[in-house]
Amino acid sequence: MAPTIYLLFSLTFQLLLLLTVSSESASNTGGDASRIPSKFLELAKSPKVFDWMVRIRRKIHENPELGYEEFETSKLIRSELDLIGVKYRYPVAITGVIGYIGTGEPPFVALRADMDALPMQEGVEWEHKSKNPGKMHACGHDGHVTMLLGAAKLLHKHRQDLQGTVVLIFQPAEEGLAGAKKMIEEGALKHVDAIFGIHLSNRIPLGKAASLAGSILAGAGAFEAVITGKGGHAAIPQHTIDPVVAASSVILSLQHLVSRETDPLHSKVVTVAKVHGGNAFNVIPDSVTIGGTLRAFTGFTQLEQRVKEVIIKQALVHQCNASVDLTPNGKIPLLPTVNDEGLYKQFKSMVGDLLGEESFVEATPVMGGEDFSYFAKAIPGHFSFLGMQDETKGYASSHSPFYRINEDVLPYGAAIHASMAVQYLKDKKASTRSDSPKGFHDEL
Ligand SMILES: *[C@@H]1O[C@H](CO)[C@@H](O)[C@H](O)[C@H]1NC(C)=O
Ligand SMILES: [Zn+2]
Ligand SMILES: [Zn+2]
Repeated sequence: MAPTIYLLFSLTFQLLLLLTVSSESASNTGGDASRIPSKFLELAKSPKVFDWMVRIRRKIHENPELGYEEFETSKLIRSELDLIGVKYRYPVAITGVIGYIGTGEPPFVALRADMDALPMQEGVEWEHKSKNPGKMHACGHDGHVTMLLGAAKLLHKHRQDLQGTVVLIFQPAEEGLAGAKKMIEEGALKHVDAIFGIHLSNRIPLGKAASLAGSILAGAGAFEAVITGKGGHAAIPQHTIDPVVAASSVILSLQHLVSRETDPLHSKVVTVAKVHGGNAFNVIPDSVTIGGTLRAFTGFTQLEQRVKEVIIKQALVHQCNASVDLTPNGKIPLLPTVNDEGLYKQFKSMVGDLLGEESFVEATPVMGGEDFSYFAKAIPGHFSFLGMQDETKGYASSHSPFYRINEDVLPYGAAIHASMAVQYLKDKKASTRSDSPKGFHDEL
């Protein structure tokens, strides 16, 4: 065949292939797949689904459970999945649940919700206030679970439209105990191609979604140090080794890690938030305990090591000894949360289709941390914020005892989750259609 004819032939052939593929994908979705997003929002806002979600959310809110103790929450999730007709794996990481909807075949896309509450007393007086003293859903995880169950309902109803499998990850222990890491260790991401997570936010108007490509949340770690000297009479300091002055010097030296050792264009935080030592006006104590947090988007491990070094060596200058714990109370450091650029583009365009372009907000990075970072480190991931603020500006920030969820946000969360999963599978299937099928099956 002459090269030009061959070229023509191959072009025509590719065109034909393209045409076949696109008509095939249209028929596979059982009609007009582009209408799925708005159907999801309508369905989620219907009184039947909305009231059901509100009931679930309030039930979880009344019974907040701390990390790895989410037994009742997990039970409620499983019973709702049973009612919907969704198969699941349990237990994963003690209380975690993983549901599966769709073909049972690749591609696999995961949607994630966290289940745990915080060790704090609820300050809001209302009918569904926390019934567990000293525990509260003040980070919206009761809403996150509800939105993912809402998505399960929407996706199950449209399971015929799914071109792959949606994996619903209900994880324990987001607040400081890195439940995500344990979920991964127990196989939560097996075969999963991508993962999406949503966090409610009071800083964004109701029904708007915010995200960005790249680092959206910082790496976050805690430290605690005991600085030991030799106590004694406050008026005879020469016979003591004063840990108070040593601790003061340590605290000031730690400030230089950000001001002197960090590129001014890179964001880092070292905060000493806790100082304990001494009980009397005239007694130099034996030791002082300090503690705090460190945050960074890059160079997190180096920062941790420098914090440790500065504390020990600066204490030594004052003849004190210091021991530094970088995982106090078993708190595991969080990695920076980095959004995959391709997933960010898909998310942004899906939000445009579902809610209108004006409903997507370009986020700015926050120094807060999330254990979603472990998922997003293991596979391509995307974390977004979903707004719930209204004109009254009455919704407090997360971790406040006055935190409340604007329940009108629940249908948006459910619809965004569900639409993203449908859209991701559709795009992924289209991009891998040319790959030869390997007869791959996964036991659910
Ligand atoms: C610090 O540690 C060294 C070595 O263990 C010990 O000799 C010294 O007494 C300690 N100093 C204080 C103030 O505890
Ligand atoms: Zn939180
Ligand atoms: Zn949270």
